[in-house]
Amino acid sequence: MDIKKILPELSLKEKAELIAGGDFWHTKAVERLNIPAVMMTDGPIGLRKQADKADHLGIGESIVSVCFPAGAALAASFDRDLLAKLGETLGDECQAEDISMLLGPAMNIKRSPLCGRNFEYFSEDPYLTGQLAAAYVKALEKKGVASCAKHFAVNNQEKFRMTSDSVVDERSLHEIYLAGFEMLVREAHPQGIMCSYNKINGVYASENQELLTDILRKQWGFEGFVVTDWGAVKDRVQGLLSGLDLEMPGPGNNAQKIVDAVTSGSLDEAVLDKAVCNVLKFVFASKSSKAENIVFDREKGHAISGKLATECAVLLKNNGNILPLNKKCKAAFIGEFAVNPRYQGGGSSHINAYKVTSAVMAATGIPYEYAEGFKTKESVTNQKLLAEAVELAKGSDVVVVFAGLTDVIESEGYDRKTLALPENQNALIEAVAEVNPKTVVVLHNGSPVAMPWKDKVAAILDMYLGGEDVGAAAIALLYGNANPCGKLAETFPLKLSDNPSFLNFPGENGHVEYREGVFVGYRYYDKKEMDVLFPFGYGLSYTAFEYNDLTLDKTHMTDTETLTVSCKIKNTGEYTGKEIVQVYIRNYGGNIIRPIRELRDFTKVELNPREEKTVEFTLNKRAFAYYEPRIMDWCVESGIYSVEIAASSRDIRLEFPVEVKSTAVIPTTFTRYNTIGQLMSVSAGQQVLEPLLRKVQEGMGNVLTTIGEMGAGNEMMQAMTFEMPLVSFVLFGILTEEQVDGIVKAVNK
Ligand code: GLC
Repeated sequence: MDIKKILPELSLKEKAELIAGGDFWHTKAVERLNIPAVMMTDGPIGLRKQADKADHLGIGESIVSVCFPAGAALAASFDRDLLAKLGETLGDECQAEDISMLLGPAMNIKRSPLCGRNFEYFSEDPYLTGQLAAAYVKALEKKGVASCAKHFAVNNQEKFRMTSDSVVDERSLHEIYLAGFEMLVREAHPQGIMCSYNKINGVYASENQELLTDILRKQWGFEGFVVTDWGAVKDRVQGLLSGLDLEMPGPGNNAQKIVDAVTSGSLDEAVLDKAVCNVLKFVFASKSSKAENIVFDREKGHAISGKLATECAVLLKNNGNILPLNKKCKAAFIGEFAVNPRYQGGGSSHINAYKVTSAVMAATGIPYEYAEGFKTKESVTNQKLLAEAVELAKGSDVVVVFAGLTDVIESEGYDRKTLALPENQNALIEAVAEVNPKTVVVLHNGSPVAMPWKDKVAAILDMYLGGEDVGAAAIALLYGNANPCGKLAETFPLKLSDNPSFLNFPGENGHVEYREGVFVGYRYYDKKEMDVLFPFGYGLSYTAFEYNDLTLDKTHMTDTETLTVSCKIKNTGEYTGKEIVQVYIRNYGGNIIRPIRELRDFTKVELNPREEKTVEFTLNKRAFAYYEPRIMDWCVESGIYSVEIAASSRDIRLEFPVEVKSTAVIPTTFTRYNTIGQLMSVSAGQQVLEPLLRKVQEGMGNVLTTIGEMGAGNEMMQAMTFEMPLVSFVLFGILTEEQVDGIVKAVNK
């Protein structure tokens, strides 16, 4: 379909209607011109296709579909291929269900562990977020289904999500909150982006020109279309002017306003045409990529969901290698999640799951007895249930408690107030561990929890919200049919108040200030040298891995070159296993305030016992860069860095320094109020000031002596000379006005 030909055929009213949905889930059809209505639906980890009663919060029924592990679990896989497998599978299911766009991935940064939708998001780290989102999107769109990365942008809490103003400095905005989206746009070229409800620095995302046009399109080269979160439009005309294409849900009540705005001349019809073209581009692309006669095999999808879950689970503790369990040992399975697992979150991502497998259902041939222990609908301890569970634990070889957060505690639409598990679960875990030290805790959580019993139990396996086959995955991992290989994509802090957003979450008077800047997650805990419960990138295995032979293809480079890094990973244990190898770049500190280390690459390698493989990474400028607002771009500061090869952000196995020389020029117009140090930071300043430095330093010496022997050692002299604005040297009679003006003019030239 040639959009250029169709556009002049459309009436103004038809155009105004096309940039809003035809209903809750479809675009608007224009039958007379053969423009079909195409369907979009949530997302992001399964199809929430609502056949009749439509809503955007997952309250209404949707068709049966396969429920895959939630974003928080998927991220713990650190596995681009795994996210691609998910994207591919969802693509097939969408084609089978005639869905043209899947509303995912959900990829906001986890600023606070309290955010109610953290279960749906990937990580506290933008690189991991961007890489996994790109893998998912490439695979989904290769199946001819559009993606819709969300929620763009800086939507990191549920409280007041529809009105709150996220106040964030430009560097943190780009380095933390946009970097994942930027990576996605540049690497995967997605068809859709969903703008968020909230404001960013005072302007709603749905009418934020800087966000939707200047950054998204002009800086990053996005060529797709922007759709609102459901009901996020505020001023539709301003939205059009800012780069918002499609209002959902439709039909809304803005069509006439658009017609009036064009008719009155306050809105240029060309602006409307651009949005219409972007929407039609998506509609016709969907039509041409429609695959016929695709039947989605849900049994196969269910098995894939279980396989993903086993790859995402994180083994947090395994004292005395109590895991994997012996199939012959008499086990006590305690906790309602053993029979009715929490495998997904609440809200718009809620799936009408095809088939849920619990641990109990999967434990065929395993001698266990079950005790409920606690009711997930309650938080107060039920003494009767507790006593029964303790009795069972006493007489068992091993106890497995299936615990975790409940649907009431974390969900879309509101945030948590605490990291704590429900009191009845903590009490139960303590009580059974008291009578049986061989207690294993299996967690079902969408985000970090406090573990007051951590030192009293023998093992902790975090399944996160592992999708509809989570029970089978848990049993496979507990009994050694699979070896845990996930690692945390977010830090578990020791206590909530340790978290860098603690003082400013969820904000006040309609705004939330991101005062921690770039120090989000491990970036903060590392810089502050704080202990944590479990660090970013941490996860155990039933086997062990050795890291050797780090090599860099250069140890001196400029920011225009790439660096090739390789090392050897060896499986030194008894089990076949997969190791997630992380690459951090360590900063030793220049002028720019930066995190100590930042994740810049990762891979997952499978090794048989005693097998060794070489893994290789290619790092470019972005690995060393920070975002420089003065040039509105990424920028490398010259200096010494270290390449760190790590098993976690707190377990650096190999490292080697590399010197990077920057070619960046930060245009600065100097004035007489700049210091000598600032002028000397650019070569022009060095040339102009070199001949004067001696005179200045002598003059400073006299001044300091005159002020009276301020114990002016060399350091004081140096500091005073370099950190004093030029104009002060005139006050002290060291330089003349003419000299100062001459210096400034020469340097700016
Ligand atoms: C919800 C969510 C968004 C979802 C949309 C449609 O408000 O914020 O993620 O895709 O509405 O259900």
